[in-house]
Amino acid sequence: MPKVAIYPGSFDPVTNGHIDIIERGLKLFDKIIVSILYNPNKKYLFSLEERLEMLRDCTKHFKNIEIDSFDGLLVDYAASRKAHAILRGLRAMSDFEYEFQMALMNRRLNRDVQTVFLMTGLRWIFTSSSIIKEAVQFGGNIEGMVPPLVKKKLKAKFAPAVGRGRSRKN
Ligand code: PNS
Repeated sequence: MPKVAIYPGSFDPVTNGHIDIIERGLKLFDKIIVSILYNPNKKYLFSLEERLEMLRDCTKHFKNIEIDSFDGLLVDYAASRKAHAILRGLRAMSDFEYEFQMALMNRRLNRDVQTVFLMTGLRWIFTSSSIIKEAVQFGGNIEGMVPPLVKKKLKAKFAPAVGRGRSRKN
């Protein structure tokens, strides 16, 4: 039976850290379904459609990958897609508590689905969608942290950028 993993997340937007996890995950699994959580109660910078489009574009060079979205419980979605693993990336220690809690809850909800963590590459250790959005918002250079299309889309979202790090007294 092919080994299928779900790589779930918000991907708001996808970063090079996510791409690194997908690339390395593909060495472990026959297929990875990268799936965006649809959560109407949460505010995102990019719409679900925009996030799907960016993910599709940035992963088109990979084989054995599918881009999808889901709602409800992740383990139910994993079972419906016949996946036995959930793939998550771990960066700094700060990720650990949340990931540990989520993995244990998911295990309690469905013991047939295993969570597999991949340690992020050292160069992506402090890369997160949130910190990148904040940097771009204030005109910071995020070259090399996100795929080129994402960089373009982020710039368009925040143009014209507010504030340039000057004292507000002047
Ligand atoms: O990229 P994120 O925001 O850290 O991803 C979080 C995600 C989507 C993996 C998580 O919120 C999730 O799985 N949500 C679906 C609901 C669920 O099954 N929660 C875990 C058990 S309560």
